[in-house]
Amino acid sequence: MPEDITFETINEAKANLDHIYDQPDPRAYFRELGKLGYVIPGVAKPIFQKLISHLRRLRSDPVNVLDLGCSYGINAALLKYDLSMSELYEHWCDKVSVAAPSEDIVRYDQRFFDGLDPQDDISVVGFDLAESAVAFAEKTGLLDTGHAINLETEPLPETATDELASVDLMISTGCIGYVTEKSFERLLPAVTQGQSPWIGNFVLRMFPFDAIEETLKGWGYVTEKLEGRTFLQRRFASDEERELMLKQLHLCGVDPTGKEEEGRLLAEFYLSRPAEEAEEIPIERLLAA
Ligand SMILES: C[S@@+](CC[C@H](N)C(=O)[O-])C[C@H]1O[C@@H](n2cnc3c(N)ncnc32)[C@H](O)[C@@H]1O
Repeated sequence: MPEDITFETINEAKANLDHIYDQPDPRAYFRELGKLGYVIPGVAKPIFQKLISHLRRLRSDPVNVLDLGCSYGINAALLKYDLSMSELYEHWCDKVSVAAPSEDIVRYDQRFFDGLDPQDDISVVGFDLAESAVAFAEKTGLLDTGHAINLETEPLPETATDELASVDLMISTGCIGYVTEKSFERLLPAVTQGQSPWIGNFVLRMFPFDAIEETLKGWGYVTEKLEGRTFLQRRFASDEERELMLKQLHLCGVDPTGKEEEGRLLAEFYLSRPAEEAEEIPIERLLAA
């Protein structure tokens, strides 16, 4: 990435959605992101499920997941239950009342998720700076534990350290760019106390992954990108966003022809594993159907 481009400058060019990230319930998040066709957690689900099923065989049952930038517990909802992203949109845009106070939505969702059969035996700890979103995810049981903290600027609380020793899989969707190698530097000492977790990140193509890869390398990780595949995150929010994003991609040396040029923000998948585990089976074989 050219030196004068930082993640902040790229974020400034991206549509600002901060106002929907920290509400007491996910209605506004789904309403606004629905307009942009935001689908990355649903697109990521089958990849994460494959990793979880490998880890269940190799490690523990339940598989302990850490979701970085967990928001309202969306990845947790998709991975714990037999739910799709369209069903979550239907739930929070159509089924629950637009006018109801948030406390009612929380109570309704506690009963709703409690009444579903878990499809996968996983526990999920979430990190996000959005306090209200994390509180929602904890109250509704989507997260087993939530930490409302900005690891870009604050250290990991000591109380979280023991709990993170058993993490088997770290995941993120739609979050790299907001978080950088700094958050990983703060999490890695805690999550690698026992058996180091696998780390799967879906990353928009205008955010270079080099600095995070380098940090992870220092902790014995090998990072592989799933070559030849791009994953739909959402449509551009405006012509202006499209223009600015295409410019950023060119500056980063990424060719948007037939990809982002068609009007979509696309992510790639990076998997980081301890070197000896990455050597045993390459990413393509691991994720083959
Ligand atoms: C596009 S949303 C993605 C949320 C969720 N992973 C998903 O895919 O639906 C980006 C999330 O990153 C969170 N975020 C932004 N800056 C962060 C930071 N420094 N540390 C942790 N989370 C952050 C926001 O609060 C928001 O929940």
